[in-house]
Amino acid sequence: MGIKVMGVTSGRKNSNSEILLKEALIACEEAGAEVTMINLRDYNILDCTGCTSCTIGMSQGKHTGCVLDDKDDKKKIMDILLDQDAVIYSVPTYDLMPSANYLAFAQRSLSYETAFLETIGAIEHRDRVAGLISVGGSTRAWQSMALEGMQATMFTTDMKVVDMILATRVPGPAQVLLNDELIARAHKMGENIMTAVKTPAEERKWLGDEDMGWCPNCHSNALVLGEPQWDGLHYPIECQVCGAGGNLEKTEDGKWKFVIQKDGLLKDRTTVEGRARHLEEIGQTQGGFFANPENREIVGKKILRYKEKNFKGI
Ligand SMILES: Cc1cc2nc3c(=O)[nH]c(=O)nc-3n(C[C@H](O)[C@H](O)[C@H](O)COP(=O)(O)O)c2cc1C
Repeated sequence: MGIKVMGVTSGRKNSNSEILLKEALIACEEAGAEVTMINLRDYNILDCTGCTSCTIGMSQGKHTGCVLDDKDDKKKIMDILLDQDAVIYSVPTYDLMPSANYLAFAQRSLSYETAFLETIGAIEHRDRVAGLISVGGSTRAWQSMALEGMQATMFTTDMKVVDMILATRVPGPAQVLLNDELIARAHKMGENIMTAVKTPAEERKWLGDEDMGWCPNCHSNALVLGEPQWDGLHYPIECQVCGAGGNLEKTEDGKWKFVIQKDGLLKDRTTVEGRARHLEEIGQTQGGFFANPENREIVGKKILRYKEKNFKGI
């Protein structure tokens, strides 16, 4: 069977995100892939209602799907997307983050959470790879959560990110065409994606720029001070994206680096096992809430203060 690669963008038509994505996809096509591409602007994607009926179901061992499955285009896209060997996402940066149309699409994937569905035996594991492109008018400074925001949406559908590009200083429509280096880098992403797909899943590794980001595990450039987690686990410093835990150490040449501690990948969100730990957390916190009828009674009484209080709207 041939290799299937899909491109997903949410940028302006014939503009920077689309151009970089198409350049990467051209490289995939040249290497023999069957290529599909969509721009989310062409589809109707409703916001997640927040009902959590999918995770409530999964935490009880049931695969319920999403309440919006037959109401918009999300399922239609996911049926194709989840049948790919690789997906390349190319998304404009708005307010330091991935654009809202992309995030609305991504946040509708909770009912597809592969770790949960695999844990309850509802689906078979499938290895997929992904490449991420963030496209902004500024430098890293004004795209500080752009790639990280996209990375955060990859776990749910088990996409192993093997390459990322931060395309900077391209604010104008199709302005990226003045930057041959970026176009070449996008082409290289396509080649990297094909290399990864052709590598046995257990041997796939990071193929992007070697020194990219703080985190040696997921290459994000975002670290936070750790705080005690639901089960007491507490790392001094955490990777904001994959959850790797460790500390900062000074290298001989006076630079800081993030060193992952021995048990620092216990809840690595890029792995099925790591995310299954989160299912335990949901089972305890959400499941525990629903399981105890006393909780519902307390909430039922206390909610009146807020239900009965209304402020002027607009
Ligand atoms: C609402 C809005 C917010 C934006 N915020 C940022 C930003 O925070 N950082 C940045 O680098 N670029 C920002 N931009 C610029 C876009 O990322 C830039 O124009 C990019 O080229 C859009 O990609 P496209 O050409 O594929 O649509 C913003 C643009 C819009 C419309």
